[in-house]
Amino acid sequence: MEFFEVIQRRRSSRQYTGEAVSKETLEKILDAAMASPVARARYEDMHLTVVTDKSLLDAIGENTRQKTGRDGDPLYGAPLMVLISVRPAGDAPQNNEFSSAAMIAHNMALTATALGLGSCDIWGAIALANQNPELVARFGLPERFVATCAVVIGATNEPMPVREIDRQKIATRFIE
Ligand SMILES: Cc1cc2nc3c(=O)[nH]c(=O)nc-3n(C[C@H](O)[C@H](O)[C@H](O)COP(=O)(O)O)c2cc1C
Repeated sequence: MEFFEVIQRRRSSRQYTGEAVSKETLEKILDAAMASPVARARYEDMHLTVVTDKSLLDAIGENTRQKTGRDGDPLYGAPLMVLISVRPAGDAPQNNEFSSAAMIAHNMALTATALGLGSCDIWGAIALANQNPELVARFGLPERFVATCAVVIGATNEPMPVREIDRQKIATRFIE
């Protein structure tokens, strides 16, 4: 798929067929993560957790439902979640560390689109997971790493058409 077509087709998919993501596809998605920019090239302070264990995906959903009182699956039944964690320089992740995680997330999401798969950024459910030490323990993160966000990826029946770009979407000022 041509680069700008990928940009125009990418959207947040919130419905998945549940079909497993193949090993080859997962490798491409992880390659995209590795190719991502990271502030001060601190790749050693980033960590990925590839989760396909349905019981853990369900536990993240259950934790969100308990904490929000809302129904539904915050991971939308996706068969794969890649969790992005950071080892903060200080006590808690700061702007450049969250931003590095977001860059990695977006590289993976764009790759999923290019491969015809749906994807969605997941920050809410991960923030809520961080309030549950038992759930965090199940992530098995290396010492001092903190989960920041995730991307769910999988086959979807939701259409991903080329979307027209709305040039007014983000207010833009030109200083010339
Ligand atoms: C930092 C960030 C956090 C997000 N967190 C969530 C989330 O927790 N759950 C969710 O369903 N979508 C989440 N999204 C997706 C946005 O809601 C979505 O990108 C936005 O509504 C625009 O829609 P589009 O992705 O289809 O273009 C997040 C997106 C970003 C960039």
